[in-house]
Amino acid sequence: MYLDRRAERILNGEEGWAKAKALEVIVKVGEALGARGLIKVKHAHISGVSYSNIGDAGLRLIKSFADSGVKFSVPATVNPIGFDLENPNVFGVSNEYVKKQKEVLNSLRMMGGDLILSCTPYDLGVVQRYNLNIGDHVAWGESNAVVYANSLLGLKTNREGGPLALMAAISGYTYDYGMHIKEYRIPEIEYIVEEPKEGLNEALAGVLGEVIAGIHSLQTPPLVRVTFTKKLHLKEFFAALGTAGNIAMTYIPNFTPEPLPDNWKPRERVIVDSFILKSRLYSLRPRDPKDIDLIYAGCPHMGIEDLLELFILVKSLGKIRKKFIVSIPRILLLDRRIKEIVDELKKLGIIIVKDTCLVVSPLDIKDLRVLTNSYKAFYYLSRKGAKTYLAPIDELALTASFGG
Ligand code: F3S
Repeated sequence: MYLDRRAERILNGEEGWAKAKALEVIVKVGEALGARGLIKVKHAHISGVSYSNIGDAGLRLIKSFADSGVKFSVPATVNPIGFDLENPNVFGVSNEYVKKQKEVLNSLRMMGGDLILSCTPYDLGVVQRYNLNIGDHVAWGESNAVVYANSLLGLKTNREGGPLALMAAISGYTYDYGMHIKEYRIPEIEYIVEEPKEGLNEALAGVLGEVIAGIHSLQTPPLVRVTFTKKLHLKEFFAALGTAGNIAMTYIPNFTPEPLPDNWKPRERVIVDSFILKSRLYSLRPRDPKDIDLIYAGCPHMGIEDLLELFILVKSLGKIRKKFIVSIPRILLLDRRIKEIVDELKKLGIIIVKDTCLVVSPLDIKDLRVLTNSYKAFYYLSRKGAKTYLAPIDELALTASFGG
């Protein structure tokens, strides 16, 4: 594998054991994959930082790096943790859990981490703050953000997973493989989506992600011809692609900034029938509002437009009669007008949490009946033991307005 002089120096321990260790891990993974060399990254997004996910072993690892005094080589943002930092009691976490999670965060802060504590770095000014441009190589470790970065921002990243994104942040390198290589970013198969007459909603967009992830087995991205009218639909589609499959990028004409090669033609075309999408979503919907104990939105973390839409919906329906949790990025609350909307939503009965989500928190949802508008949440909450249903946000709001 090709190593530049600096990488060689790092591996020789000339910049300390922590960087040497981090780069050694990256080199080993790169060699296992057959990567041709290393490349420098401009930014990392570190996922897998919830104490629920990493436990004591992860805490020890992160702490050992921080205690060595090493600083991140590149700017690094951080994914959600196990609870809302200002309000840990919402998810009823123990004092011990809070202490350990805070140790993880302090370690990341000591190394220079930007604690956005959100899975939507693409939405929060990160791209502007760190001057990320089309074609830049980054190491992002949150699957929904990875698909967004490759497909909409023109950034180049593999699905790193938490530890590898951490090692990339420390060393400043990743392996030159997969999405970092131009040829791997050119689609070979075109999926033509026959959209329902009424258009897509975010739940159908998630189901579309599931259907395409179930068919697509190539390393190159699927090209998907579909109309997305809202950013939320794109987010849910990307999150579903990353959840139901191993997809790191999708090419969407008019959205993906990289041009296709001249005379590009797909080697295969696949029609995705709207009937398949609608019938799959129908099978995942609740039959009766009484079947639902808990409603959840904000996976990936909710953006401003979605929060406004939810506010309008809930306001028009009146009182919320079911437990309804929404997860948002903490940065939204810095805007006074958004903070006012959040306060209004709270008054209407919605529980708003920042820094966390239902999936990465330790909240016990086993045996609860949960309704969500996110395919990704649907997928993971089902695996956490909840009986989970999927429907668009207006149906969530309507269900919440019913008692029972
Ligand atoms: Fe984000 Fe949690 Fe969903 S980290 S993408 S809200 S599973």
